[in-house]
Amino acid sequence: MRLQVKVGQVGQVRGGVAVYAAWEGEQRPDRVLPSYAARDRAFIQLVGRCGFRGAANETLMLPKGRSWVVVVGLGKADDLSLDRVRQLAGTAAKAVRARGFKHLVLPVLRERAIGQAGAVSQALIEGALLGLYRYDQLKQVPKHEKTKRIDTITLVAERSREAAESRRGVERAEAVVEAVLLARDLINGPSNLVTPTHLANQARAMAKRHRLKCVVVPFARLKRMGFGGIVGVAQGSPHPAQFIVLDYAPPRARATFAFCGKGVTFDSGGLSLKPAAKMEQMKYDMSGAAAVFGTLQAAARLKLPYRVVGIVAAAENMPSGTAQKPGDVITTLSGKTVEVLNTDAEGRLVLSDCLHYAKRYQPNCTVDLATLTGACVVALGSEAIGLMTKDERLAARLNQAGHATHERVWRLPLWDEYGPAMKSDIADLRNVTNTGEAGTITAAKFLEEFTEGLKSWAHLDIAGTAWTEKDKPYVPKGAVGIGVRLLVRLMENWK
Ligand code: BES
Ligand code: ZN
Ligand code: ZN
Repeated sequence: MRLQVKVGQVGQVRGGVAVYAAWEGEQRPDRVLPSYAARDRAFIQLVGRCGFRGAANETLMLPKGRSWVVVVGLGKADDLSLDRVRQLAGTAAKAVRARGFKHLVLPVLRERAIGQAGAVSQALIEGALLGLYRYDQLKQVPKHEKTKRIDTITLVAERSREAAESRRGVERAEAVVEAVLLARDLINGPSNLVTPTHLANQARAMAKRHRLKCVVVPFARLKRMGFGGIVGVAQGSPHPAQFIVLDYAPPRARATFAFCGKGVTFDSGGLSLKPAAKMEQMKYDMSGAAAVFGTLQAAARLKLPYRVVGIVAAAENMPSGTAQKPGDVITTLSGKTVEVLNTDAEGRLVLSDCLHYAKRYQPNCTVDLATLTGACVVALGSEAIGLMTKDERLAARLNQAGHATHERVWRLPLWDEYGPAMKSDIADLRNVTNTGEAGTITAAKFLEEFTEGLKSWAHLDIAGTAWTEKDKPYVPKGAVGIGVRLLVRLMENWK
């Protein structure tokens, strides 16, 4: 894919399909952003006569001169945001590809509400490339579909001063998108292929490409070293668990971040077996791990001035003769014992070892990501990540990064009154409550038990947001790749 920035008007780029952005709610759509539409009244009237209203992501393709134009709705002017810009680009890119065109030309919109050329350009390229993503590596795509491929995207800035800024935005977008797509590929991959060993191999390959340090602790050593949480979950599966640490450590790092990811490559529930309906979706139970991998790759590519440590527990949760059983008591890496009353509450077990392990890096900030609870899907649906932390400042920072990237978080309380529900009669902790109340919060309280000594910790429950069942402008059905853009932005805005 060739990405370039030019100065001028979108209609002037030869051989490309120009995108015109149009507002909603005008009597006549002659408020098609005037400069981008090259002030062509006749054309604007034609768009209106076609019944085009300008609703968000509405599209209309028309021939114009020797080429084609795609008019895309921006929605109401008052609702304009950077996310609308991402959506516009994703919608336009897919429409252009579907018609078999290869060159997309996007205007670097100049509107006060969405910021400078750099941010706008980054949003445009993110939207287009994330929208064009398909997971088709396991299927025989017919040739005429395969040749439908956009090979060039040109951004057109109005002023040369903006072009330099725009180019930097494009570079940032490329780094971020590559990281998100890495995560999506791993999540969409079926669990017979994306095993814990596969995740470890991917981590090693990424470390080599981007000069990260990578340490993988294989299953036999996890047993010897006392990673009781991970071992307990993995012992029912023929696929051995892998504990994966990726370390990006630039010289003179200004701070250290630790990111922990739940990497359950398939969650059958174990002996506390899940119902059959939608069980196939549980291949996405490693979305936290995928987000951590993507974040590390992006941090390295963007040369962020922070040390970033990614800690992933990769394991498969299966029922079998060797599986852990309801009622078993395990000893986690921290030394705390856990009565496993439900083998389906396995995410917190593998994460407890990750969080304890993170302490050795003395991070300034630790964030874990996990598809942890069905209760989070019930509470927040698919628009908001569940955020739990006692650190007000970190909550504010994650909230801000969430709005900037549209990977929005919504905070739930982590009050100590929720804690006793996780106490066991015969061990230090139990892994489920006996009431089923506040499932998302009590899971976080369980994790909190393993964060003593960590300076600043937040838990992100991405169970509802990591997977989408419907196509969205820049997120096709399936893996979202959520968390990568959020964490990268958190770090970029740190100081
Ligand atoms: N991986 C699931 C959570 C999940 C559910 C993620 C739906 C995505 C969609 C997790 O391991 C799990 O099974 N949690 C249990 C906990 C319960 C036994 C306390 C749940 O949510 O039912
Ligand atoms: Zn489970
Ligand atoms: Zn799970």
